[in-house]
Amino acid sequence: MANILQPTEENLRELRKFLLFGGLVGVPTETVYGLAANAFDPEACAKIFEVKQRPANDPLICHVSGADALEDICHANPLALRLAKRFWPGPLTFVLPKKSKIPNIVTAGLDSVAVRCSAHPDFHRLVEQCDFPIAAPSANPFAYISPTTAQHVQAGLGSKITFILDGGSCSFGVESTILDLRDETNPRILRYGALPAEDIEVELGRSIEKPTFITADESVQHLAPGALPKHYSPRTPLELRGGISNAELASLKNDQAALLLARPEGSFPGNVHWLSENGKLSEIASNLYAKLREIDESGYATIFAEEAPELGLGLAINDRLRRASFR
Ligand code: TXA
Ligand code: MG
Repeated sequence: MANILQPTEENLRELRKFLLFGGLVGVPTETVYGLAANAFDPEACAKIFEVKQRPANDPLICHVSGADALEDICHANPLALRLAKRFWPGPLTFVLPKKSKIPNIVTAGLDSVAVRCSAHPDFHRLVEQCDFPIAAPSANPFAYISPTTAQHVQAGLGSKITFILDGGSCSFGVESTILDLRDETNPRILRYGALPAEDIEVELGRSIEKPTFITADESVQHLAPGALPKHYSPRTPLELRGGISNAELASLKNDQAALLLARPEGSFPGNVHWLSENGKLSEIASNLYAKLREIDESGYATIFAEEAPELGLGLAINDRLRRASFR
């Protein structure tokens, strides 16, 4: 099992050294926990793919300390600098042309790199101490539900890594929004995430291109290599529902679980679960993965999950639920 470390100055210094010399560390971010390695070290990055059982064609996100460090690893443009200034540190990832010092394994051979600056205070301190960018995908075994606590990382990867930095529960609970900025005149969202697309549109004063849910793997390769239709998936089959009525809740079988957006009125048996008290999207997002894990461990035959409204964070929540339901 991995050692779960508290974010003391001494532990951060040790972890920096451990990363510098090629180690992997489970790290907290404001979105989900990541599995971190020195992005300049191809062997360390190769271990990320091995530990996660991640296909080699699925590139990693690099974490930097701020807009100043953007140009260390990629060719930034004025739009990227402007958006970094506005939204960093925070849950927004840019895709930009890479510089050659980023090893090809990090970008899965692509000539672009994904880069973000996390707002998690402990991880941010660690990144600031490192004079190398940190490659970190979500710290889950490939295609399983992403981790939002140190204990989730321990449960999924603890037997394969040495250290996990404990930064508490992730505040957002869904991954960062990924924005392709290679063409400044046509910014495109590749993955809905914790920063609502509308916030970016307000900043830019224009609408931006959105991702479509594609189920054919070849087309996915083209858009965002890791945007596979089946992802974030519990082992228990999950069916997505536009809504779930009280009558349906009352007729649930014992081996069926319902996952609602908000606490229902009235009293229901223990197989009725909810993601928030009153339907607030930020609360739903922050509870989503922990709740899915809890339900997945309870031995149900089926999970019926309720869709969120298609706006703001609801787009990221539905994206994850849709992939979780894909068989
Ligand atoms: O919130 C997050 O972004 C978390 C935390 C740990 O930072 N990270 C995360 O990483 O979600 P990961 O590896 O689970 O998802 C990264 C996604 C993948 O779908 C990958 O294909 C895409 O980013 N990606 C990475 N580099 C890319 C590139 N150059 N072009 C297009 N997509 C890219
Ligand atoms: Mg992931």
